Amino acid sequence: MTIRNILTEPNKTLRQISRNVDKVGKEEQKLMNDMLDTMYSANGIGLAAIQIGVPKRIIVMDISKDKEKKPMFFVNPEIDNRNKIFSVYEEGCLSVPNQFAEIERPSTCEVKYLDYNGNKKILNAEGLLATCIQHEMDHLEGILFIDYLSKLKKSMILKKLSKQKNKIDRIVV
Ligand code: NI
Repeated sequence: MTIRNILTEPNKTLRQISRNVDKVGKEEQKLMNDMLDTMYSANGIGLAAIQIGVPKRIIVMDISKDKEKKPMFFVNPEIDNRNKIFSVYEEGCLSVPNQFAEIERPSTCEVKYLDYNGNKKILNAEGLLATCIQHEMDHLEGILFIDYLSKLKKSMILKKLSKQKNKIDRIVV
């Protein structure tokens, strides 16, 4: 188990387009394990590989609210049949720390992907699951949720982020 460093905006790597994975092997499974540990330790419900600096089309998620963990793994995910009806959630992102905004996304969608063992799967997603998978898929294209906001809102968030980044650690000795 390795907890990896999560990149935060502004960061050029986060804006890269991730590449498809040829096959799900040991290396990819190790990456997925690390991603899951990193996500849990940061109290997130989803993480894309690019957020730890790896430009591969891999996502981990766990939207279970109970204590029992229900990890989900998506390799080379593709979205189809997006609903024309939208739903709204207040979204945050581990790469945009402490910032939240209401984002509209198709309320349901179909996801084709490879699972942890490289098996082909299809998932009909709705509710939080649909929003979360779409948010994570955006990361694979170098898109962050703040990109959907008005220029003004986005620049306010970016300003706050750079303030957070430049903040000097306060110590009491
Ligand atoms: Ni995110």
